Amino acid sequence: MVAATLTVENHLPADFIASTLRRDVVTGLTAEPKFLPPRWFYDDRGSVLFDEITRLPEYYPTRAERSILRAEAAEIAAASAATSLVELGAGSAEKTHLLLDALRATGSLRTYVPVDVSDGALRTASANLLWDYPGLAVHAVVADFERHLGLLPVDGHRMVALLGGTIGNLAPDTRAQFLGNVRAALRPGETLLLGTDLVKSPDVLLPAYDDASGVTAEFNRNVLNVLNAELGADFRAEAFDHVARWDAEHEWVEMRLRAQQAMRVRIPAVDLTVDLHRGEEIRTEISAKFRRERVAAELDAAGFGLTRWWTDEEGRFGLSLATAR
Ligand code: SAH
Ligand code: AVI
Repeated sequence: MVAATLTVENHLPADFIASTLRRDVVTGLTAEPKFLPPRWFYDDRGSVLFDEITRLPEYYPTRAERSILRAEAAEIAAASAATSLVELGAGSAEKTHLLLDALRATGSLRTYVPVDVSDGALRTASANLLWDYPGLAVHAVVADFERHLGLLPVDGHRMVALLGGTIGNLAPDTRAQFLGNVRAALRPGETLLLGTDLVKSPDVLLPAYDDASGVTAEFNRNVLNVLNAELGADFRAEAFDHVARWDAEHEWVEMRLRAQQAMRVRIPAVDLTVDLHRGEEIRTEISAKFRRERVAAELDAAGFGLTRWWTDEEGRFGLSLATAR
C-alpha cells in the first residue's frame, strides 16, 4: 500500500496575529456599533466548540449538507471531473470524506488541499485522512481565504469547495470580492462546490444559533478569550450575554455579545480602552441565509455558471456546483 503524503504550507505572515488581529480589533471596537470579524472565533478551543455545534440537535446545517453529499457525491465527482479537491475553511473536514470517497472512486483523484486559518484544526484533519486514502497527496495550506487565494497550488483539474454555509459569514461586499477571487484563481471549466444555508422560519433558524445547552454561547464568548490571550485584553467573557437575532431585511442571523453592565476594557497590545454601556452589543458574526436565485446571481456576477443545484429533503440547505466560464 502506498501511504498518502502530507505537506503543510503556511501562508499566514509571521505577524498575522500581531498585524491583522490588532487592526481588526481597533477598527471593530472603535466603530459604532461595535463588531469583530468571525475568523477570530477559530483558535484551538473555538474549532473544538464549532465541532460540538455541528452535533447539536438544533444545528441542522451540517446534517442537511451531509445528507446532500451522501446522495450526490458520485454525481458531483462525475460532473466536476476533478483530480484535485481544494477545500476552503476545511475545519475538521468530516463531511469531506464523502467527496473524497466519490472522487477516488472515479480513479482520477490525486491531491486534496485543505485550507484553513486554524493551524490546529488543519493538522488534525489532515492526519486523520492520511491512512484512509493511500496514494493521495494531502497538501494542507494554513491561509486566510480572504487574502491568499492567489497563492493556492495550481495542480490538476480543480474543484474548490466551500462547505457548511461559511460563505454566509462574509458581508455581501466581501462575499462578492471573495467569489471573484475564487474565479480568478481557477481556469475555465474548473468548478466551485458551494454550500449555502437557506432562508427559513426564524423558529428553526434561531435555536440553531442559540442552543439549549449553551455551546453556541460559549463559542461566541470564546472570541473574547482570544483577544485576552493574544492582545492582553481584560474582557470578562462571562459578563456578556449571547444574543442571536434574525435580520429579516438582510436575511441573515446575527450573533452578538451584550454587556450585562457598564464596563471599561483595556487592550494593552493596541493601547486601546473600550467603554461599553450596560446592554451595549458587539456584533461577532453574520450568517447569511440564501435563496437559489441569489446564489445563481452572485455566482454569475463572479464569472461562474450554476451547473447543478441540490437541496436536502426538507429544503433547509443548498449545495451548488458552479463552473468557471
Ligand atoms: N467546512 C467545515 C467547517 C466550517 S467552520 C464544515 O462545513 O463543517 C468554518 C471554518 O472556516 C473554520 O474551520 C475556520 O477556521 C475557517 N475559517 C474562517 N475564516 C477563515 C478565513 N478567513 N480563512 C481561512 N479559513 C477560515
Ligand atoms: C461556519 N459557519 C457557517 C457557522 C454558521 O452557521 O454561520 C458558524 C456558526 N456560528 C454559530 N454557529 C455556527
